[in-house]
Amino acid sequence: SNTKQFHFNVEWKKVTRLCNTKPILTVNGEYPGPTIAVNEGDNVEIKVTNSVDRNTTLHWHGIKQLRTGWADGPAYITQCPIRRGQSYTYKFTVTEQRGTLWWHAHLSWQRASLYGAFIIYPRFPYPISAPIQSEIPIIFGEWWNSDVEAVESDMMIFGGGPDSSDAYTINGMPGPLYPCSIQDTFIQTIDRGKTYMFRIINAAMNNELFFAVANHTLTVIEVDAVYTKPFTTTAIMIAPGQTTNVLLTANQVPNPTGTFVMAARPYVTSVFPFDKTTTIGFLKYNALGSDTIKTAVKPCSFLPQNLPQMNDSDFATKFSNKIRSLASTKYPCNVPKKIDKRVITTISLNLQDCGGNKACKGLYGKKFLASMNNQSFVRPTMSILECHYRNLKTSAYAYNFPEKPPHAFNYTGVNPLTHNMNTEFGTRLLVVPYGTKLEIVLQDTSFLNVENHPIHVHGHNFFVVGTGFGNFDDVKDPGRYNLVDPPERNTVAVPSGGWAAIRINADNPGVWFIHCHLEAHTSWGLATGLVVENGPDPSQRLLPPPEDLPSC
Ligand code: C2O
Repeated sequence: SNTKQFHFNVEWKKVTRLCNTKPILTVNGEYPGPTIAVNEGDNVEIKVTNSVDRNTTLHWHGIKQLRTGWADGPAYITQCPIRRGQSYTYKFTVTEQRGTLWWHAHLSWQRASLYGAFIIYPRFPYPISAPIQSEIPIIFGEWWNSDVEAVESDMMIFGGGPDSSDAYTINGMPGPLYPCSIQDTFIQTIDRGKTYMFRIINAAMNNELFFAVANHTLTVIEVDAVYTKPFTTTAIMIAPGQTTNVLLTANQVPNPTGTFVMAARPYVTSVFPFDKTTTIGFLKYNALGSDTIKTAVKPCSFLPQNLPQMNDSDFATKFSNKIRSLASTKYPCNVPKKIDKRVITTISLNLQDCGGNKACKGLYGKKFLASMNNQSFVRPTMSILECHYRNLKTSAYAYNFPEKPPHAFNYTGVNPLTHNMNTEFGTRLLVVPYGTKLEIVLQDTSFLNVENHPIHVHGHNFFVVGTGFGNFDDVKDPGRYNLVDPPERNTVAVPSGGWAAIRINADNPGVWFIHCHLEAHTSWGLATGLVVENGPDPSQRLLPPPEDLPSC
């Protein structure tokens, strides 16, 4: 197999958006960051040099990191941060994975600008018949006029919700619905009659998004770098952390300008007073019309008719339910049919007394936090993986994540102020032996369930065997699971006010972060860690740490 090497220099770069120029963290001065493109089976070596005045780490989102947890990247989970002037080379092999993934920083809110596509070209041709003319990356992000790490610390200190970003972006461009942004609009030219593959990545910080292209349908063929049964849809819903490959055929008779709008906006179940919601770009049919985009733009009337409304849960649910693994002979679906263990955990937002702090900006004079089974995750100040590997005795974390909610109750139908508020802070990890067939039921609760929680598991893909609204019923619901062709993913959008059951073949020894990919929720503690023990065979053990692993 081949080795592909990359050098990522983390550096400040002055970037202008919305008429606001400010230094942002970049890799090699690029925003969004450079694309990593490798072939299935490649060894990958990415040397990351930190040339900025703050710590950083990078994470290769969705890469399984089989036995190479040292290269996974979440700060204080699998490594200590890379300090100013230091370098660390992430080394791993891309085994049995193909498709669109991405990379991003994994410390504080640095991923707001430190992100890019991670593309794995397949060993075999795509299991679809249409010839693909070319591939178009569509990466959604968010732009803040203020410093993002300050947005995070303000939220943590004052206990309120995060300031919303100033713009959503497509490939770093806000598009003309935002002030001062016409020149920062993503425009893609295409040829009539041809089929294109869009590699769509939601790198936004705090929102699920709907995406649609005017007058065109999208055929979903892959999610989270796993092929799906193709299905055609008028729009997609994509949560932060998720990736979706779709085919688009340029089969329209273009309007006089030869352009069609593409647009993305948040999906939230209760409509907030958002005003900065919609990023748009353009598809432009080649050799038709003239370059009239700059004058053709009129807000609102211009949005694709097929873009769902911000609170269209019905669309979001139907869309998620359509996603099925390919489950073919060549690409089988290895969902565990039987399980060794079921863990049920609430995923919730909570309130905490402000301890007399008058500045408290949460609700009812309290501050926000978030938890799983009422454990609000605290990141230690050393690498859990390293301590675990070296068997160090420490009180910084414990192997005792509660495997059931603290008290059984009606999670989704109770008065949020009297329930589920006794959150504890700690670093409690879920431990399973090598090879465990593990089911985790993620149960949303009633407090502030205005949006899906996109729960991401590091180090493993999982199978979404069931989802539903209301409370999970451990007698009835498992009987309705899809154990034939459930979607295989690394991030599941747990329905707001409902639950999702995922199954994992826990065959990757190490310490794996599990967290909500809405950045505010991770900051508040909606996270835990999954520890998979070594297996008996040497090939089932975590490899030793690399020499250049940063120390704390
Ligand atoms: Cu994409 Cu732990 O992250």
